[in-house]
Amino acid sequence: MNTQEQAKRAAAEAAYEFLVEDDYIGIGTGSTVNHFIDVMAERKPSVRACVSSSEASSAKLKKAGFEVEELNDTGNLPVYFDGADEVNRHFELIKGGGGALTREKIIASVSRRFVCMVDASKHVDPLGKFPLPVEVIEMGRSAVARQLVKLGGSPELRPNVRTDNGNPVLDVYNLDLSNAIAMEDAINAIPGVVTVGLFARRPADVLVTAGDNGVETRSRRR
Ligand code: 5RP
Repeated sequence: MNTQEQAKRAAAEAAYEFLVEDDYIGIGTGSTVNHFIDVMAERKPSVRACVSSSEASSAKLKKAGFEVEELNDTGNLPVYFDGADEVNRHFELIKGGGGALTREKIIASVSRRFVCMVDASKHVDPLGKFPLPVEVIEMGRSAVARQLVKLGGSPELRPNVRTDNGNPVLDVYNLDLSNAIAMEDAINAIPGVVTVGLFARRPADVLVTAGDNGVETRSRRR
C-alpha cells in the first residue's frame, strides 16, 4: 500500500468510531470508502442495513456480508460515510471523481451526520484545483456546457463514462469557487444539470483527515 492509500485506510479506521450499530448506515463510493468497507468487514458491526451511493459499493458491501437496501425503503439515515476529492476549511467539498455524485448528494441530504474521510492532500482553499464534476442529461450536454463557459468554466466531457443513472459527466476546470454556495446554486439552476459535485449547501459534519502526523477528527460548528 502506498502512503496515500495508508492515509485513506487510517482515516477509514478512525471514522469507524462514528458508526451507529443496529441502525441503517449510508455508504459512499471510492477508494477511501472501499477501505471503510474493509474495516467493517474485519470488525463485523451489527448493522440493520446499508444504503449505498453506487452499484460498486453495494456489490462490495454484499460480498462482505452486509444487507443493502434502497433509500426509498429506509427513510432518513443516522450517519453517512464518504470520501471527497477536495475539502476546504468550511467543510465544503468537491465530490464526484468516481461519478457517484447524484446518489451521494441524495444520501448526504437525508443523513443526520455526514462523516467525510480524506487524506491530507485533499485539503485546499479555495476549492477548485480538482475539476468540478457535473452530471448532465445527455440531450442537454452541449447546452449545459455553454452555460458553464458563461460562468467562467472550461467543461470537458468525461470520456467513455456513464453514471449509474446512465448520464454523462462534465468535468469543469477554471471555475472560481471562492463562493461555493453561490456557484452550487448557479450551476443547479441550469436546465439539464442533474447534480453538481459541489457540497456547500450540505457540507460534511465531521472531517477525518489522515496525514503524516496521524489522524485528526474535527466537527463543523453549526
Ligand atoms: C465518488 C466520490 C469520492 O468520494 C471521491 O472521488 C474520492 O474518492 P477516493 O476516496 O477514491 O479518493 O465523490 O463520486
